[in-house]
Formats: sequence, structure tokens, C-alpha cells
Amino acid sequence: MAKIAMLGSGFIGRFYADSLIGQRSRDTIVSIYSRREESAKKFAVDYNCSHWTTNMEEAINHPDVDMVCISLPNNLHEAAVMACCKAKKAVMCTKPLGRNAEEAKRMMEAVEKAGIFNGYLEDLCYTPKFLKALKSVQEGALGRILWAKSRETHPGPHSEWFWDKEQAGGGCILDLGCHCVEIARNFIGKDIKPVEVMCWADTQVKPIDAEDHAIGLVKYENGAIGQFEVSWTFRGGLDLRDEVMGSEGTIWLNSFLRTGFDMFTTGKGADYVAEKAESNTGWLFPVGDELNELGYNHMFADMFNAVEAGKAPRETFYDGYVVNAVLDAAYRSAKSKLWEPVKLDIWRGKEGLAKEKTLTDYNEQYYLIKEEMTHFGTAKLILKDKKTGQIIEKVV
Ligand SMILES: NC(=O)c1ccc[n+]([C@@H]2O[C@H](COP(=O)([O-])OP(=O)(O)OC[C@H]3O[C@@H](n4cnc5c(N)ncnc54)[C@H](O)[C@@H]3O)[C@@H](O)[C@H]2O)c1
Repeated sequence: MAKIAMLGSGFIGRFYADSLIGQRSRDTIVSIYSRREESAKKFAVDYNCSHWTTNMEEAINHPDVDMVCISLPNNLHEAAVMACCKAKKAVMCTKPLGRNAEEAKRMMEAVEKAGIFNGYLEDLCYTPKFLKALKSVQEGALGRILWAKSRETHPGPHSEWFWDKEQAGGGCILDLGCHCVEIARNFIGKDIKPVEVMCWADTQVKPIDAEDHAIGLVKYENGAIGQFEVSWTFRGGLDLRDEVMGSEGTIWLNSFLRTGFDMFTTGKGADYVAEKAESNTGWLFPVGDELNELGYNHMFADMFNAVEAGKAPRETFYDGYVVNAVLDAAYRSAKSKLWEPVKLDIWRGKEGLAKEKTLTDYNEQYYLIKEEMTHFGTAKLILKDKKTGQIIEKVV
């Protein structure tokens, strides 16, 4: 049973708390730290916490606490992690780990030096759909993964600090791209090195210094391509979609706007619909169980199982660091308009991979390019001569 200190009582702190103590869980939040006394007290009442404080170290050092959950604005992650290292308490940190790879690397090195458990709270790599899709990919159902694309777009975040480049560390590339990059990394293979990034970014709508819309391509060493599409200017709710394309198959996931629950209402009795929904009348797309659909339940189960087994969880600070390094390259590329290298001082995966050759033999003379049954009943083969390179068509 985990005894948790929650740092931050805002949007994600409450989502996490609902998941942590929901469904008759054995885990408890024993201390809550919030910046303002009234928020800390309210959270303590709502989630039955015996201790609340406006002093972060006091929550971390509370004698009943054995695990800390960081749900603070991005610029406060590092200080919170360092305090956990000092107190030698297990730590889980929300995304993005750092505002940049430098911060993330310091955090990763500190937790590893302190020898404490570290979990990276990347919920979208734990949604039920994602976990099942990943299993199919890992079992080879899609063959060699060629392209993994992830989109997170919505009409913009809910608190002021997100919109301040200094506190947030960036705009939608960092805030939403961190999810997309880690989703694609999982599908392509976490041991495959991301090598280069090309990114377009702009501030199309909002009066802010950071970007509110971006599209990026992440090249992996084995020839696979990751793609992220992120926006704080998208209208219509929270759009979470992934696409994976392999040499043997394809997966499309729609995690939020189309979950199989469509509803129409004139607005009578209108209520909360789903995260970032822009309307509560007309045709709506509610979500049955947001905590589960967004991966929080599976994520915390993995974290606590890992702590108990003395193992690393699926997502660690190292993963958070790699994601930050990819996003740093995206920011550099958006400025330079060039492919920018991903700078990874620490890399623990495979090295020196090249694009896999996957030529399919038809017979001694030919490679098979493709076979197709036409609408007029002819089965055709497209073949390539191995020696001459000539491409021919054969009706079978
Ligand atoms: N799906 C996800 O994984 C997800 C979703 C939303 C936010 N997040 C992350 O969670 C973290 C917190 O985001 P949030 O949406 O809960 O923000 P929020 O503004 O709703 O809450 C932040 C909380 O931090 C505390 N705080 C302490 N010092 C503060 C300060 N100086 N300024 C502002 N708040 C201070 C406050 O208690 C506040 O309630 C961010 O790192 C964000 O990227 C993750």
C-alpha cells in the first residue's frame, strides 16, 4: 500500500488523486502540498488527507510519506525532484519531466545517484487501447514499424502559467509533443535511437511568445519516422489520435473524441462532458471513464507494482529525458528550418543501426513488389528482375 504526498492540487493533481484513491484502492494520499492554503485544505477534505501544507519540503519529509507524486508547473519539477532525492523518497513526476533536456538530465542523474524509485507519469502510454495496440506491435502483427504518428490538439490549457514561456518552458510542442513523442517511441521501439528532427512551429492565434501550433518529424536510426501534430488552437475539444503503419499492418487509435459514445442534447440539464470539451449541447462525444480512457489507472498500477517488485516501471525519468532531448531538437529545427540532431549525452539503447533491407523473393530471378486482385477478376503480380532492375507485370 502506497502512502503518497501529492505536490500540487490543481488539474492533474486532482485527476491523479481520483485515480489513486478511486475504485476502493488501498493506496492513500497522506499529505498534500499546495501553494495556497485554501486549495491545500480543500484538497485535504476532498481526498481525506490527514496532512496539508503550503511548504513543499514538509510534505515530502512527512514521516508517513513513502512516495511523492509531482503535479506542479513545469518550472518546479526540478526543485521537487531534488527535495525527494534529499529525503530519499520514491518519486513519480508528471510530464514533461523538464523544461528542456538539461533539466531532465539533472533530474535523472540525481534520482539514480540517490538510488530512489523514479516513474515518469506519461499516462497516454498506458491507455487500454494503447497497451493493447503496443502488444500487437511487439508481437509483430504490423511487421517492421515504418511510421508512428500521434496527434494531441485542443483549444489551449487551463492555467495561466502554461502560457508563460519561462514557467512552462515552451508552448504546445513541449506541453503536448511530449506525449506524442513518447507514444511514437514506444511503437517504433524504445531501444531505437531518435536521431534527427524537422519541425514547423508558429504562433497562429494566441497572443503569446510560445508556439501554439506545430508539426514535427522525428527520424529514427533504423529508418522509421515518428510524427507529432500538436496545437493549442484546435477547436472542438481534445483530439487524441495515433496511427501506426508497419510493413504488415496498420493501427488507428482514437482515444478521446470518438470513443463509441455519441450523445445529443438540447442543453437541458447540461453538465461536464469530457476534458476540454467546448460545448455541452448538440451532438457530444462524452467519455465513459476518463481516468481509465486516459491511462491513469493502468499507469499508477504499473508504478506501484514496480515499486513493490523493486523494478523500474514502464516509463522512467530516463524516458522523460529522451523525450526532452527530442523536443529540444524540435525547437532548434523550428528556428533553423533544418533537420536538427537529437543530442543525447546518455543513450541506453541500440547503437549503429541501419535501415533494414526487406526484399521479398518471388523466385530466383525476381523480387516481389506487389500482388493484387483487380475488380475485373485478374490477379496480377508486379515483379522486379534482380539483375537488370526491370519491372514487369505478370497475370496469374
Ligand atoms: N495528462 C497529463 O499528464 C497532464 C495533464 C495536465 C497537466 N499535466 C502536467 O501537470 C503539471 C501541473 O499542471 P496542472 O494542469 O495540474 O496545473 P494547475 O495550474 O492546474 O495546478 C498546478 C498546481 O501547482 C501548485 N503550485 C505550487 N506552486 C505554484 C506556482 N508557483 N505557480 C502555480 N502553481 C503552483 C498549485 O497547487 C496548483 O494547484 C504540469 O507539469 C503539466 O504539464 C499533465
